[in-house]
Amino acid sequence: MHPDITEILYTEDEIANAISSIGRQITADYADKRLLLVSILKGSFIFAADLIRHIELDLAVDFIAVASYGAETKSSGVVRIIKDLEGPLESYDILLVEDIVDSGLTLNYLRKYLRSLNPKSVEIAALLVKEVKQETPVECKYVGFVCPDAFVVGYGLDYAERYRYLPYIGVLDPKVYS
Ligand code: IMP
Repeated sequence: MHPDITEILYTEDEIANAISSIGRQITADYADKRLLLVSILKGSFIFAADLIRHIELDLAVDFIAVASYGAETKSSGVVRIIKDLEGPLESYDILLVEDIVDSGLTLNYLRKYLRSLNPKSVEIAALLVKEVKQETPVECKYVGFVCPDAFVVGYGLDYAERYRYLPYIGVLDPKVYS
């Protein structure tokens, strides 16, 4: 285990099982739809890459990027799109793929923004949802795990661009950022 990690919350196997189950549900729910999976960069890129290989549909993929926390562990409260989607969305059912929901600010903003572009639907798949009271609760159609209110890293999630490569998800030692 990495020395900056105090506890492993989800192992590689547990993550793989959760993703395979979400993939099966998505395959059933979107069978007769035109699915566009939108991965929110950078944190969800590993989740999205694994998830699409568990969806047995002819889906399309795009990426959207929002300004991140930087070297902070709390959201600044301002969401800014730094890379937008390509092309018209009217013919697609969109599934937004997010690594973790904390305050819900990012997803509530993005969902509203994407709905304004008139796709057929917008739903959310989040690998992790933090056990915190969200100011405006986010409705996620697919959730991997409800995780404790700690700063977690690994499997795509970072702190100041570190730890994304870890194959598991663990709690970052507060000493690293305090
Ligand atoms: P929200 O807007 O507060 O819901 O924050 C969502 C975004 O903040 C996620 O996409 C992550 O990039 C980042 N984030 C929130 N909590 C954590 C965490 O515990 N570890 C790493 N990134 C996090």
